[in-house]
Amino acid sequence: MSESVFPVSPSVAEKSLLTNEQYQSLYQESIDNPEQFWAEQAKRLNWFTPFDKIKNTSYQPNQVSINWFEGGELNASVNCIDRHLPQKANQTALIWEGDEPTQDQKVTYQQLHDEVAKLANGLRKLGVGKGDTVAIYMPMICEAVYIMLACARIGAVHSVIFGGFSPNAIADRIVNCNAKLIVTADEGKRGGRSIPLKQNVDEALARKDVTTIEHCLVFKHLSSQINWDDKLDIWAHELTHDMPAVCEPEVMKSEDPLFILYTSGSTGQPKGLLHTTAGYLLYSALTHKYVFDYQEGDIYWCGADVGWITGHSYIVYGPLANGATQVIFEGIPTYPTASRIGDVVDKHQVNILYTAPTAIRALMAKGDEAYATNKRTSLRILGSVGEPINPEAWEWYYKNIGNSQCPIVDTWWQTETGGIMITPLPGATDLKPGSATRPFFGIKPALVNSDGRILEGEASGNLAILDSWPGQARTIYGDHERFEQTYFSTYKNMYFTGDGARRDKDGYYWITGRVDDVLNVSGHRLGTAEIESSLVAHTSIAEAAVVGYPHDIKGQAIYAYITPVEGVEMTDELIKQIRDWVKTDLSPIACPDKIQWALGLPKTRSGKIMRRILRKIATNEHDQLGDTSTLADPSVVDDLIKNCKN
Ligand code: WT7
Repeated sequence: MSESVFPVSPSVAEKSLLTNEQYQSLYQESIDNPEQFWAEQAKRLNWFTPFDKIKNTSYQPNQVSINWFEGGELNASVNCIDRHLPQKANQTALIWEGDEPTQDQKVTYQQLHDEVAKLANGLRKLGVGKGDTVAIYMPMICEAVYIMLACARIGAVHSVIFGGFSPNAIADRIVNCNAKLIVTADEGKRGGRSIPLKQNVDEALARKDVTTIEHCLVFKHLSSQINWDDKLDIWAHELTHDMPAVCEPEVMKSEDPLFILYTSGSTGQPKGLLHTTAGYLLYSALTHKYVFDYQEGDIYWCGADVGWITGHSYIVYGPLANGATQVIFEGIPTYPTASRIGDVVDKHQVNILYTAPTAIRALMAKGDEAYATNKRTSLRILGSVGEPINPEAWEWYYKNIGNSQCPIVDTWWQTETGGIMITPLPGATDLKPGSATRPFFGIKPALVNSDGRILEGEASGNLAILDSWPGQARTIYGDHERFEQTYFSTYKNMYFTGDGARRDKDGYYWITGRVDDVLNVSGHRLGTAEIESSLVAHTSIAEAAVVGYPHDIKGQAIYAYITPVEGVEMTDELIKQIRDWVKTDLSPIACPDKIQWALGLPKTRSGKIMRRILRKIATNEHDQLGDTSTLADPSVVDDLIKNCKN
């Protein structure tokens, strides 16, 4: 692979917050003297009560416990709103850009404050208070931000469910987090298509095991016809109509929960990662400031959805804690045309753009449509997140979106890490396309081999983190044992990320992708086990095995091997039915791209499916299957190769 280097240009360095020397000395300080470093950084937040212990963390087996800033008291919504009001009441906080290019709306910090306060009062009136869980299933509209901050204001724990999830996935999450309230909108819009949000919630609530929800709070977004249950459903505008625009914030301890967010792991059940108040807020604010080099007056745009961690940390908490002005976008990059991102950049004079490789590749596939009709001269910094960015996509993004003027920050992190972990800093880091480069302040990455030995210098291995940082998830909600098991049992005294990586001679990290049974489809994280259990729930399917294979635009696509129940014939109609089943059972994102009928799956004598073989078949590397002699029935392999769909 050719390794080109894009050095920091003098004009970028001049405008940026940190030079390379400053990065290096601050990084060294953060590692040598973490308590002093974080105590200093914690001054960025407003505290009701100062903390008395900075760091109290253990990765020891059976004693994993992570606490930062103990003794401190604060409120996240006050930090994201109230404290900015003396200077910034009339500054725009949110610029909403709708699905249609004709729709937009601006919200000042004062308006944000008032909307959040009214909603927070409304929540209290509904009997929601400190420690209660609120499920949120919203389109990308300002109200999604209001309701998250309203929860934070009264100490309720929000759990945002991505608007692309199906009723079953909503129900699973509500049951797992015992939500008392669900918040949604009548409908959402994406790429000209309607998303029946309220209807999906109705279906989720109809499931018998969903017993904890007392009310469904509904925002009116599109004036659509929806079913209404007078006992359960409440219009948000009616609830807040008479509410005062001031609301006393709840005093929260540093380690009080802020939110739960579900993500996929290598087993079937999604995990609800729990993030707490002070450490998370500080880490998201600090990373937002330095990684995106956010400076007063900048217009920042993160294209993620609030249903993912990127939206939590880099739409809601980080930018608002920094008093930023930002675009939030309901639509998709290719609607009405592939020029939409560039058009929105020009329209709102965006300076910092944060998006995903899958979006970049989708635009690349459209030729010059993405940049022919716009100039994008306001841009100063570009960001990438969600999956490794291939050098071709990197260079296309750099040249055609950034006019070869803007550094690209390729940010590696995870739902579990709360904020960006490995990343360039715009004025400090020479860039190499495809590399997430160097660790952020306070982060000690390590490459570990299969025996758990830490590798030095140039090396490839599994990526682990050696010590705690403030933004780290504290537990899996309701299952601390699984938390320890998943992240702290693979390597002793280390956090295991699930990713593989390489470190080059300059100490730069190159993330190579997941080393577990987790797929990354268009930047969405999916467990193969989740998809398999959805497939086998279909009446025609006896057994299923799912693997990933490379895909030009999505990065990875889903390949499913299916063994039918006796007597079932494969027809195109049945394949379509199965695909629709997964779409409604789980999510359209989880729908297999390729389905292969398999009379048998390659299993060991103890019955374990050998995915290695299935992966090789799906990627057409039929001559590299390796040893198949330990299979219970090696002949299944020939049949699988013969019927391969790729
Ligand atoms: C997984 C985490 C981080 C917010 C969005 C995804 C992959 C993420 C990068 C990157 C290479 C990346 C990893 C990671 N990933 N960013 N810049 N380069 N890989 O959060 O859904 O928790 O997924 O996404 O495999 O483990 P997530």
